Amino acid sequence: MSAPASLSAAGKTVEFPVKSGSIGPDVMDISKLYAQTGMFTYDPGFTSTASCESKITYIDGDEGVLLYRGYPIEQLAEHGDFLETCYLLLYGELPTAAQKADFDYRVTRHTMVHEQMMRFFQGFRRDAHPMAVMVASVGALSAFYHDSTDISDPQQRMVASMRMVAKMPTLAAMAYKYSIGQPFIYPQNDLDYTSNFLKMCFAVPCEDYKVNPVLSRALDRIFILHADHEQNASTSTVRLAGSSGANPFACIAAGVACLWGPAHGGANEAALKMLEEIGSVERIPQFIARAKDKNDPFRLMGFGHRVYKNYDPRAKIMQKTTHEVLNELGIKDDPLLDVAIELERIALHDEYFIEKKLYPNIDFYSGITLKAMGFPTSMFTVLFAVARTVGWIAQWKEMIEDPSQRIGRPRQLYTGAPTREYVSINQR
Ligand code: CMC
Repeated sequence: MSAPASLSAAGKTVEFPVKSGSIGPDVMDISKLYAQTGMFTYDPGFTSTASCESKITYIDGDEGVLLYRGYPIEQLAEHGDFLETCYLLLYGELPTAAQKADFDYRVTRHTMVHEQMMRFFQGFRRDAHPMAVMVASVGALSAFYHDSTDISDPQQRMVASMRMVAKMPTLAAMAYKYSIGQPFIYPQNDLDYTSNFLKMCFAVPCEDYKVNPVLSRALDRIFILHADHEQNASTSTVRLAGSSGANPFACIAAGVACLWGPAHGGANEAALKMLEEIGSVERIPQFIARAKDKNDPFRLMGFGHRVYKNYDPRAKIMQKTTHEVLNELGIKDDPLLDVAIELERIALHDEYFIEKKLYPNIDFYSGITLKAMGFPTSMFTVLFAVARTVGWIAQWKEMIEDPSQRIGRPRQLYTGAPTREYVSINQR
């Protein structure tokens, strides 16, 4: 514990404990501020507020560092697989070979969804956005798996966690298949997590489907990159929803809904649409000018981040993965990649972007990669949701298992009408 911080407010000087984490900035514990001064803090967008204590993920935005349980993202993406990362995020340590085999087995045995879910899907319009289908179907899991909704039971929490990690790819693939009018493909348990997902998305019952190991590995790495990102908007949503004691499926559905927005997970879809709209390298300057124009709401999608004020470490790995996938598929000239590379080059040398520390984020290159693999743009955020599910669950579990956990309930600065008398309708 560092020396306390003192604050003069409302004519009083009060001291607040300062807590230190293992790395990262200290925090001033202002939980007694209201009791001691009668004042709240005001921090819209939570730019200076730590909402919780966590041991899961650490970001140093100035240095461009991302650690899961202390391990650099680059090492996990290079050497591990997605289920290993899931184990690490959920349990805090890398698994031994036996633990990994057991975990893989347990996840794999939960990949099927209740047969009645198929009929649930039939109620959607075929042209529904797959994220709309995901929000609804993940929420509906609580209706199908009621035996794992008691959050006070550690065994039920564990089963719900397994179910969610295992069933998200199945639901995501079903959302895709439904949108293109193809039959659902059942999971195949002798395939690894990501190969199974690719097969459920791209196989059809009338043909053999061989998983391309390069694409499977690339997508697995993309899943690792997206697995967790500390207290981002959707994770904070999951924590807030969970703080009331809501069941885990409902909480993850809330996270999926939040992720959908274009400022968050929806940015990968928006970034690819932007690259398509730019269309050619010659048109880049006019879009850069628009991004810099205060009177134009246009932003370079896939650029900027609340925390990273340096190159997003995930974007570097993503860029490499993009090249691997395009090489594997024999795509020599991708006009979108040309636009992306040139846009990045110009933006990184432009005074506006340098001064505001706007660098490419993970979503800048992911769209090109996923498109090359055969996914439509509407599926990009769904893939993000598949990968982020484990992060949401790990954060939700950490919160539920913390004995000091209380319902999340921010305060406000009220600027509406003060007390006034009701006027009956015929006198208004
Ligand atoms: N293009 C042009 N200008 C930008 C951009 C951009 N992409 N991002 C930020 N700015 C400017 C913004 O106009 C503001 O300028 P000023 O100070 O003159 O008003 C300044 O930079 C700071 O921006 P902000 O909106 O206050 O920053 P924020 O931390 O609230 O927003 C962000 C972060 C990610 C929402 C924002 O950078 C953005 O909208 N980026 C585009 C969407 C995107 O790529 N999102 C994916 C984020 S990474 C994955 C994820 O989280 O899911």
